[in-house]
Amino acid sequence: MIRPILKYGDSGLHAPAAPVKAVTEEIQTLIDDMIKTMYAAPGVGLAAPQVGVGLRVFVIDISVGETPTELIAMVNPSFETCNDDASITEEEGCLSLPGFSAVVERRKQVVVSGLDRNGRPQKIEGEGLLARAFQHEMDHLNGTLFVDRLRGIKRELIIRRIAKLRRNRKW
Ligand code: NI
Repeated sequence: MIRPILKYGDSGLHAPAAPVKAVTEEIQTLIDDMIKTMYAAPGVGLAAPQVGVGLRVFVIDISVGETPTELIAMVNPSFETCNDDASITEEEGCLSLPGFSAVVERRKQVVVSGLDRNGRPQKIEGEGLLARAFQHEMDHLNGTLFVDRLRGIKRELIIRRIAKLRRNRKW
């Protein structure tokens, strides 16, 4: 089932998500729905808070359905220590901020560990776009959107434009 994606301003997006206690059938259904919702959007990643579920789950597929092995589902993810602390700045968007993008600084490489769709431990190293997606989705689980990482006028401009769209009932 494709679920509606919450937009910036909805309280569900701006609160930290809770750990999943057990990977039950309900969680697997949530993951399947999130994958369908991500592909339908289309997007390269989706976190559970974006569909109104305050749990630490995200899905990522940087191939957007082209390469089945690229599909990642992560439950209770955390970053492992990584020797490479280089950063990279690139344009980034979010399904909860349709029509907006900004240049965001991220670590170039990350290692994420957590549980897979079947509750088994997994550890995945990401570089480039995958590293960016991991950090973006992890932010969602902590109630942070990319716009929250911007400073000054860049952030103000986006927030003002969203406020105007909301006033005109277009958000
Ligand atoms: Ni996002």
